[in-house]
Amino acid sequence: MALLKFPQGFVWGAVTSAYQIEGAWNEDGKGPSIWDGFVHQPGKIERGETADVSVDHYHCFPEDIALMQELGLQAYCFSVSWPRILPEGTGKVNQAGLDFYDRLVDALLKENISPYVMLYHWDLPQALQDKGGWSERFIVDAYSEYARILARRLGDRIPTWVTHNEPMVISLAGNFLGEQAPGLQDPFIALRVAHNLLVAHGQAVRALRAELPKTAKIGIILNITPTYPATDTEEDRQAARRYDGIANRLFLDPLFRGEYPADMLELFGPIFPEIPPGDLRTIAAPLDFVGLNYYMRAVMRNDPDTPLLQAAQVYPPESEYSQMWEIYPPGMYEMLTRIQADYHPKEVYITENGVCVTDGVDFDGRVRDERRIRYLRDHLTQVLRAIQVGVPLKGYFHWTLMDNFEWSFGYRMRFGLVYVDYATQKRTIKESGRWYANVIRNNGFGPEA
Ligand code: GCO
Repeated sequence: MALLKFPQGFVWGAVTSAYQIEGAWNEDGKGPSIWDGFVHQPGKIERGETADVSVDHYHCFPEDIALMQELGLQAYCFSVSWPRILPEGTGKVNQAGLDFYDRLVDALLKENISPYVMLYHWDLPQALQDKGGWSERFIVDAYSEYARILARRLGDRIPTWVTHNEPMVISLAGNFLGEQAPGLQDPFIALRVAHNLLVAHGQAVRALRAELPKTAKIGIILNITPTYPATDTEEDRQAARRYDGIANRLFLDPLFRGEYPADMLELFGPIFPEIPPGDLRTIAAPLDFVGLNYYMRAVMRNDPDTPLLQAAQVYPPESEYSQMWEIYPPGMYEMLTRIQADYHPKEVYITENGVCVTDGVDFDGRVRDERRIRYLRDHLTQVLRAIQVGVPLKGYFHWTLMDNFEWSFGYRMRFGLVYVDYATQKRTIKESGRWYANVIRNNGFGPEA
């Protein structure tokens, strides 16, 4: 059987985030994060669920690393909880927090799993939010200080570093749509958050370069949504362009070109923050790679009733859907080739891609998540196509290792390669996990296998 082969050295991994898996929300000196506060507010999360315990990775990490080893993962991307390291956000360091990541990294290295560390996956220390959080300029120095502390403690053992995960979601979902912590609905604040996130990223890159060995690689993770007009009328094309601007170019352009897109400056007009001199140069600090998260596309139509954007999403009836989104594998290829053509990153990783479809433990104890296997096969086929046309794609990280707390949806949405029984914390590798393990072993897969 002909194998679809990936290039030699292609990195196969899985990815998680601290708040979604760790639990131990107030143990060993950890301070509260904005997510701890958000989930404890009534009405924010389905069924009032929280990640106070989640999958208890804080205590179960040796077992989780054994699962990674069973899957044959070569790399594991995780985020650090800022308030575990700095309970007040700045100032006094919590050694017990650093010790946890220290043990985690050593245990990964012992199994030959390369750690990829992310500094920020949404769990800002509450103490910093109380002072305005990402919308205030002080945050830039606070974040660099945090980066420096991690680099000093873990820099000798972690080869790959990521600043933020998905600045678009942090700024817009958290501060404009209010669906995520801190739950604000203010476009003016959301744009300041976006800008400060980018400046903080640039300054943290500088801080990390100063602390880390020369061989360390540093990047950022962006979620990209390929965007299409619902029809080919000029109105719909403009609507798609506006959505692409806000979802993608608002972050890509400053990072890779050192400028904000002109059409976005025009769209936002007076609510766009004043940009202090030098900021754009800081933001565009050269990167070793970009991590791209791909889940979905957006099909947009003109809609004068949507404030600001004047565009609304359309869900093509002929498409396949997961519990959360449209499933559209060609978007993976279109995203990768477009980013390469427009922004020329040195190296690219897929840092998230995955699906939530209903699955569960069958009579015989197996989890037959066949749709996830099909999803994986279809998306990896598109990944390979992109490599074949020259995209410098170095690895693929599946979202996610094991089922976990899916933000405002709570535990209803399961994205894992490993099933978790939340009542007992029992982990079961799903059929998709076994399929993925085979892909890793063969560095590819057959058309049917
Ligand atoms: C994101 C986050 C993850 C989510 C995943 C599924 O990309 O939104 O990084 O934390 O759990 O994307 O929604």
